[in-house]
Amino acid sequence: MDMGSIIYSLGRVFLLFFLLVWETEGRDQAKYFDVGKYGAVDDGKTDNSQAFLDAWKEACQWKGTARVVVPGGTFKLYPVIFSGPCNGPIAFLIKGTLSATTNPSTFSAHSWINFRYIDQLTVTGGGTLDGQGASAWHLNNCKTNPQCQALPISMSFDFITNARVEYIRSYDSKNAHFKIFGCHNMGFRKIKISAPADSPNTDGIKIGSSYRIRIARSTIATGDDCVAMVHGSRKIHISKVVCGPGHGISIGSLGGNDKEDDVVGVTVKNCTFLGTDNGVRIKTWASPYTSKASNFTFQDIFMDDVLNPITIDQEYCPNPPCNQQTSSNVQISDVTYKNIWGSSSSEVAVSFRCSKTCPCKNVLLDSIKMSHSNPRGRLRSFCKYAKGSSYGSQSPPSCL
Ligand SMILES: *[C@@H]1O[C@H](CO)[C@@H](O)[C@H](O)[C@H]1NC(C)=O
Ligand SMILES: *[C@@H]1O[C@H](CO)[C@@H](O)[C@H](O)[C@H]1NC(C)=O
Repeated sequence: MDMGSIIYSLGRVFLLFFLLVWETEGRDQAKYFDVGKYGAVDDGKTDNSQAFLDAWKEACQWKGTARVVVPGGTFKLYPVIFSGPCNGPIAFLIKGTLSATTNPSTFSAHSWINFRYIDQLTVTGGGTLDGQGASAWHLNNCKTNPQCQALPISMSFDFITNARVEYIRSYDSKNAHFKIFGCHNMGFRKIKISAPADSPNTDGIKIGSSYRIRIARSTIATGDDCVAMVHGSRKIHISKVVCGPGHGISIGSLGGNDKEDDVVGVTVKNCTFLGTDNGVRIKTWASPYTSKASNFTFQDIFMDDVLNPITIDQEYCPNPPCNQQTSSNVQISDVTYKNIWGSSSSEVAVSFRCSKTCPCKNVLLDSIKMSHSNPRGRLRSFCKYAKGSSYGSQSPPSCL
């Protein structure tokens, strides 16, 4: 061996050693804040909100990586707000089950577990959120109940940046399971969401006023939208999500008020819809408020027995009568549907009901292979004020 290669080998050994020490040190730096040490008890009855808040407060003040730990067991938790900014990256590790309250005095809270103003947040741990929705759904049914109230969302994120949420199960939320508002750069992965098909307003993941949100490798079975993207959602990527039962993946309803409402840049790829009411849907109110919905790609999607697989509805009116004096002023453009196959349980598998004042622009259909769930049924498309083109095979025949 010459001198050069000896120095090179020694250099490598030192580098590896340095990396190892650095890694270990880095791990040691994380400080754990176990809620049990702050008085939380896993008897499934005691309200643990104060213990959780105390653990959070100290973890958030820690100048380094902090981990709040919820150990195995069932912890009853009343509505809590975990607020930042914190002094370092912070993780919330849920190993056991958090159980929401059935006490109606807490039903007016905006959310059950709310994270706010935090940078570098991780929520993970393989644990479960039990929203105890059955105790409240009868109050939430706005179609039949005039006293309908906005019930707490199970877990909401407000003004969170650079965050990950993964390996969490959420079931029976009272309202939506997860809500993302005013957030930037968040990833959701390996999330399991479930609530009965007839539970009211139990959206899986609801996104508004947020930028760069990714949802991947998750299953969502619920009573409302699997994923709903409302006003101000930009650069949203959804992939490998299995949705159903539920109302599908929706953009909108848009144009409901004069707030900044645009939704731009959504991709939905490699997703599966099982028995949902809708597959991929864009909906806007027939109202005078102007906004923009553009640059959407729905690709490599399988639908099994879906009622309305592909829809744009610019006359959205879930609870008629609606005031439809004007046609929608939301401009929909650049929407691509590519490689979508499976079965439709209604005759109209592709429906583009666009606006007279703002016709849909540049809608592309590429390789759509749908059949009717009933072997004797036939499918058709519906187009109104929709402009665009189609490529490849088209079943039902395209009306663009
Ligand atoms: C449209 O979306 C794609 C994929 O998200 C993105 O790469 C592209 O920059 C977007 N274009 C516009 C004009 O927003
Ligand atoms: C997505 O689906 C397409 C079509 O089924 C497939 O060719 C592709 O490999 C899938 N992509 C991933 C990342 O799984």
